[in-house]
Amino acid sequence: MHNKETFSFEDCEETAKWLLGHTKQRPDVAIICGSGLGMLAESLEGQQAFEYRKIPHFPTSTVPGHAGKLVFGELQGKFCVCMKGRFHMYEGYPLWKVTFPIRVFKLLGVQVLIVTNAAGSLADEYCPGDLMIIRDHINLPGLSGQNPLSGPNDERFGPRFPPLSDAYDKELRAVARDISRRLGYASFIHEGVYCMVGGPNFESVAEARFLSKLGADAVGMSTAAEVVVAKHCGLRVFGLSLITNKVAKEYEGEDDLSHDGVLAIGRMRAVTLQTLVTELVGSIDPNNNLIDEDVKELSL
Ligand code: HPA
Repeated sequence: MHNKETFSFEDCEETAKWLLGHTKQRPDVAIICGSGLGMLAESLEGQQAFEYRKIPHFPTSTVPGHAGKLVFGELQGKFCVCMKGRFHMYEGYPLWKVTFPIRVFKLLGVQVLIVTNAAGSLADEYCPGDLMIIRDHINLPGLSGQNPLSGPNDERFGPRFPPLSDAYDKELRAVARDISRRLGYASFIHEGVYCMVGGPNFESVAEARFLSKLGADAVGMSTAAEVVVAKHCGLRVFGLSLITNKVAKEYEGEDDLSHDGVLAIGRMRAVTLQTLVTELVGSIDPNNNLIDEDVKELSL
């Protein structure tokens, strides 16, 4: 690891220019694939993939289930760039490294960011295998001072004090709800609050109760930092959690939580999640930075 304190605008530009020089594709949508959800990247048409280690400035990912490549391609006729494998705080990366790809996406011309993750449920009615559209987040590391926007602000990315009250795009959430209904997902899809924690350990019972009382429906070790940086630079955001386990809120329960278990549920529901994201991407009209009209009508 080098000793920089952050990536500059010029670093981000260098990476974006390198990518634009190595592919003719100009993505409108960026998708971050969470734990075990990288299959989405494999479904892109006309794929062009770049291993992270070959891209200037790009960090490399160290977690099993996170492959480490950037895949360009088309989904439902829309140009996308997919992160197969993301970076986490618990790997030891500072948040400015974790969120570096988001600013690169912005400079590539991306307008919409779709983030997926694996999460544990705190809400009693959620079950492993369920999906949760993220309505809002609690950025626990951010609230306690670990924020990717800490340090000098570069106005070329965004304002010093960005608002976050509308972080998860209302319209995209409405369209995703309609698509889920149409696909017959209504019985296992929810909409709720995601809480980011630093990890890598799963939560203690007291922590789970604490997070639940704070208003979190699901907890995971990613996403909020990326969304903060995406909103800062003006991207529209859609977030989707795959519930891989229930987080124990009682001392009596069995403690059988493992990363392999998280990946197994990911495999089980990967196609479901992929279908929803694919349909959602199909509904985005990059020319208007709006949802396609025929899909929009569905949500009225
Ligand atoms: N806690 C935190 N992160 C997670 C969990 C969990 O229970 N499951 C998947 N990611």
